[in-house]
Amino acid sequence: EKGGYDYFMLKEIAEQPKAVADTLLGRIDGQGNLSLDEIRIPTHVLRETDKVVVVACGTAFHAGMIAKYAIEHWTRIPCEVELASEFRYRDPILDQRTLVIAISQSGETMDTLMALRHAREQGAKVLAVCNTNGSTIPRESDAVLYTHAGPEVAVASTKAFLTQLVACYLVALYLGQTRGTKYGDEITDVVAELSGIAGEVDRVLETMEPVRELARSLAHKNTVLFLGRHVGYPVALEGALKLKELAYMHAEGFAAGELKHGPIALIEQDLPVVVVVPSPRGRSLLHDKIVSNIQEIRARGARTIVIAEEGDESVAPYADHLIRIPRTPTLLQPLVATVPLQVFACELATARGNEVDQPRNLAKSVTVE
Ligand code: F6R
Repeated sequence: EKGGYDYFMLKEIAEQPKAVADTLLGRIDGQGNLSLDEIRIPTHVLRETDKVVVVACGTAFHAGMIAKYAIEHWTRIPCEVELASEFRYRDPILDQRTLVIAISQSGETMDTLMALRHAREQGAKVLAVCNTNGSTIPRESDAVLYTHAGPEVAVASTKAFLTQLVACYLVALYLGQTRGTKYGDEITDVVAELSGIAGEVDRVLETMEPVRELARSLAHKNTVLFLGRHVGYPVALEGALKLKELAYMHAEGFAAGELKHGPIALIEQDLPVVVVVPSPRGRSLLHDKIVSNIQEIRARGARTIVIAEEGDESVAPYADHLIRIPRTPTLLQPLVATVPLQVFACELATARGNEVDQPRNLAKSVTVE
């Protein structure tokens, strides 16, 4: 049942190109338009939406953080993202014009379920992004967009995360298309890029041997830090979460801009720091800032593990280890940048003799608050 792999997690990492392709299937028409009629929220409701709130837990929350960048950029609707476990306790402001997106692989996470119940009581419309047909969260929502990752057995979420991202991009682009924002041309370009993204994920998977080797060489370390900016920030958080849950290591993700506000004090000789570098094209300001962050931490002794686009030579002089990912539009980069971090955590866990599919103290779905 593990299809020749030692662990479900390895199988599920390898299944990601298919999971991504399956989640896109039938949702983009021949003209490059989004066709998401399955959502069945009337167009006028989507046009009148004046706020989007994303609620989720854990890895799904990281997908939600990335969704916020996409939704605000392509739709110009203000978007908040909140941990489901915090959401209803702060008396959030919600009404009929609020679209709440509840992201959940299992569809059974109690915190997320309670958040969406609260949102519906306030009159908000709830769209579930879910991987499990007929589970509680989609049953209790106004609408659902299923991710087609197939069953995810390993406790650590991998392919579900990538498909959550795809589903959120589709929702963001669909909202942008429905509302006719000024980003029409960009939407067309991104849809075209999305259609080819499964192939890019596949290419990343083919180049992972050096990442596994690096992971094994770090098996004795106690701490690994992760830095990112923009959508690379949630990717950094996701890389750190994977390492905590699988390798039982102290791992933390930071927004690189926050370094000088505290975390840089943690940098010491030979501390491994993974840095997710945005594309030098497009948002070049972001890119240049992170290159100087890499220089700053390296000057203080950090061992830099740099994830950067193919062709980006500017980072090479400061990278102790360079992991290449394919070129993608900035907002889509998490689909390729997360994969090496999953492989890294899985291999580190194996090297440390941990149970990869069943990490200690964790359950696949958390059905208590
Ligand atoms: C991390 C992980 C958890 C889940 C979280 C939400 O690898 O698996 O953080 O992402 O418990 O679960 P779902 O998506 O089922 O609501």
